[in-house]
Amino acid sequence: MFYQVYPRSFADSDGDGVGDLDGVAARLDYLEQLGVDAIWLNPVTVSPMADHGYDVADPRDVDPLFGGLDALDRMIAGAHQRGIKVTMDLVPNHTSSQHPWFQAGVAAGPGGQRERYIFRDGRGADGVLPPNNWVSVFGGPAWTRVIEPDGNPGQWYLHLFDAEQPDLNWDNPEVFDDLEKTLRFWMDRGVDGFRIDVAHGMAKPPGLPDMKNPNIGMLRLDDNDPRFNHEGVHDIHRAIRRVFNDYPDAVAIGEVWVFDNEQFAKYLRPDELHLGFNFRLLRAEFDAADIRDAITNSLAAAAIEGATPTWTLANHDVEREVTRYGGGEVGLARARAMALVMLALPGAVFVYNGQELGLPNVELPDGALQDPVWFRSGGRERGRDGVRVPMPWEGDEPPFGFSDTPDTWLPIPPEWAALTVERQLPEPDSTLNFWRRALQLRHERRDSTGTTLEWLDAPPDAVIFRVAGGLVCALNVGAVPIDLPDGELLLASGPVDDGTLPPGAAAWLVKRP
Ligand code: GLC
Repeated sequence: MFYQVYPRSFADSDGDGVGDLDGVAARLDYLEQLGVDAIWLNPVTVSPMADHGYDVADPRDVDPLFGGLDALDRMIAGAHQRGIKVTMDLVPNHTSSQHPWFQAGVAAGPGGQRERYIFRDGRGADGVLPPNNWVSVFGGPAWTRVIEPDGNPGQWYLHLFDAEQPDLNWDNPEVFDDLEKTLRFWMDRGVDGFRIDVAHGMAKPPGLPDMKNPNIGMLRLDDNDPRFNHEGVHDIHRAIRRVFNDYPDAVAIGEVWVFDNEQFAKYLRPDELHLGFNFRLLRAEFDAADIRDAITNSLAAAAIEGATPTWTLANHDVEREVTRYGGGEVGLARARAMALVMLALPGAVFVYNGQELGLPNVELPDGALQDPVWFRSGGRERGRDGVRVPMPWEGDEPPFGFSDTPDTWLPIPPEWAALTVERQLPEPDSTLNFWRRALQLRHERRDSTGTTLEWLDAPPDAVIFRVAGGLVCALNVGAVPIDLPDGELLLASGPVDDGTLPPGAAAWLVKRP
């Protein structure tokens, strides 16, 4: 069980309103009690924070905002003492525009130094048009024109994300050499692996052919998009894996937004990634056929290479599932039900900080928004800030123990007084205690492995399956209660009366002794 810590939003130790690593270190007992096996830490490396750390200016140092390298060492030591592993985010597709390589490339003019990035001349008279029609995932063109040393507008550089995140040129061997240095630097320091950002990016098709569908929605990634999943990416993963092979206990987990099973499975070949994020369950509606389909396909994709399946319902990029499933009481009930579905499945699970508290998405005021998506879309897309609001720990008003200052980097809604860790701990049926029980049971029942499960007969609006080891999970997505399958009830996400499962609830059962 990986627990994703969004460091800006977990806990702030120095009162500047932004979370940091000493803050995380101070909350490790909480993670231990939750039953976390490993932390996935979003980027903490040196960054101007245009994309909150995914714009890396120095990949081998920790940003002072998060407490510097010593704070990371302290946090890792504390985690290891508790038997918790620590994985970091690795961002190989791009750097920050403040990275010394990019700065030198712009200053040097066309040629040499620019070969580490993807610079091209523009089209049209005087090169005023971008080199192709690619769009940025965050909106607007994927190209920005630079001012040359002579003061005139000149070449364009590619950035699949923000203009502050120029894409690296993976055809240049210097790029891999530097990444290898970064991998070794952290793993020699005790880091237990990496979540690899945009692991289906990096390699670009020769000639950079136009996109057929440049009107694709922002933050949407689909198959058959020339910007991603180019065959050449697999050589890069093989090279990365060779480095990992020197650190046999470390794990490489790729963020792979690829939906075709065969294509996805290629990333999980024995000489590539250990694990690949599968986003099908996260994309599924609260609908029986959709959920069954997501599970079937995720398992089938992992089975192709005999890999471990992965499951996730939430992360720092997508609307929180309480809101996605309808919001309010209904959304919360469904989120809890889906947690039981996810935690029953064989494989690795990823839990996003605050998910265990049942936090909803927050509608932030315009003035508070910071995501580049908001700026690049000219205010049409609100972006991801509403998923990243700091954790409510204790007390009756913001910042709920997250920080000493009420002026937190994103405002925390006063209603979250009802959702704090302190408030939930003594309530037996709180979402936090529900997660803790579910994780504990999951831990005790480590007998579910492999890539298969058995679908049991179910009414049309239900999903019922049995996994290796015998655990049965039943989910009711319909509007009326359903009969529970026979068995001893271990845990339910909502009230179970007379052997019936209410709408928007799930339950775990085992064979009666
Ligand atoms: C990944 C990250 C996202 C980031 C983007 C660019 O999708 O999860 O948060 O903005 O890559 O690095």
